[in-house]
Amino acid sequence: MVKKKTCIFISGQGSNLKNLISHSRGYNFPIKISLVICNNREAIGLNYAKIYGIPYFLINTKLKNYENKVLQTLKKYKITFICLAGYMKIISKILTKNYPKKIINIHPSLLPKFKGLNTFSRILKNKEKETGCTVHYINDKLDSGNKIVQKKFFITSKDDEKVLKIKTQKLEYKAFPEAIIKIFRDN
Ligand code: GAR
Repeated sequence: MVKKKTCIFISGQGSNLKNLISHSRGYNFPIKISLVICNNREAIGLNYAKIYGIPYFLINTKLKNYENKVLQTLKKYKITFICLAGYMKIISKILTKNYPKKIINIHPSLLPKFKGLNTFSRILKNKEKETGCTVHYINDKLDSGNKIVQKKFFITSKDDEKVLKIKTQKLEYKAFPEAIIKIFRDN
């Protein structure tokens, strides 16, 4: 199988990156992680790129036209597929135009509910009965592209923000690889 050359974008802990690296080493998993892009030089997740010898590229989103630089780097590494794994920046049209239906994101809520930031506090405040995670395509509107995989669980009275995050991420580690398999099985 020819694996798709994939770039993972991160901003922080990188636990989804770590999980995807481990899946991508499987013989039948459809992607190879060829590049990591990160907008935060202190991101712990960068260590996974270092440990596993994956090229990484740090970006400064304060610079004008930084996304042209990102695009150049993606082309240099012949990237054909992109996963946003805890990347806390909005992707601009430069990337969505160049990678139509080739960029997916993981979000810690049952989209279309709770788009954007601070999802767990809003979920608790809203007294939701259930929550979960969504893997979806990126389009030009925030957290609004077509869903690929969604997984949920019931919220208990003991669940605070910390517990919600742990439970949600546990599902993310299943949902992200599942979504990738689904995309390449269907195409
Ligand atoms: C993940 O839980 C992901 O759903 C969330 O950031 C976390 C990153 O964790 N993404 C968003 O909130 C995007 N709006 P990780 O760095 O340990 O993978």
